[in-house]
Amino acid sequence: MNSIACLWGIKASFMRYLAMQHGTQASIGGGAAATAKNEFLFPAAPGVGFLPAAGPGGMRFEGDVHFIAHGGLLNVVLADPWIQRVGDQILLSFITGEYSGSSVTPTVLAELVERQSAEDDGSVTFDATLASSGIHVFGGVYAAGEPLDPIRIVHNPNTHT
Ligand code: HEM
Repeated sequence: MNSIACLWGIKASFMRYLAMQHGTQASIGGGAAATAKNEFLFPAAPGVGFLPAAGPGGMRFEGDVHFIAHGGLLNVVLADPWIQRVGDQILLSFITGEYSGSSVTPTVLAELVERQSAEDDGSVTFDATLASSGIHVFGGVYAAGEPLDPIRIVHNPNTHT
């Protein structure tokens, strides 16, 4: 496994909502994994290094999570996370598919802000808020700017599962 991964819980209240619905199906594939801390782990794509401290750059990760609820009316796919610095913004995109299959163009789901506090193990944490282009992924329930769970980039992901 690549020794870099990102860890993301998506949004705790959304995960609780899914857990409450009778018959929710959740599946994880493509190298992603669930951790004991209710996060999803996506390994970095081969050869991917950390985001440069400044200037354009990106990190691609692999794997997908898929949730089906309400008899298939709720059908949320989040695949192959991509964190990229564009100008002064850091964006989190996924290949998404909802309601009727997936698209291949990544959707910018969230805007990220890096936390300044350095962590002992060298991991980097970003606070995440929903981007306007990601509103439809959650069925229009959350407005742009809604806080999502923070996302972490870690070394040695095996120690986080
Ligand atoms: C049969 C169709 C659906 C029904 C009956 C339904 C019902 C509900 C209800 C009752 C709530 C409020 C739950 C609460 O506050 O505890 C809720 C919240 C929510 N629903 Fe649905 N829903 C449906 C479809 C969808 C679809 C298609 C999506 C798309 C992803 C969606 C996403 C959400 C989200 C994101 C929340 C907010 C969860 C949170 O953060 O608390 N729902 N829904």
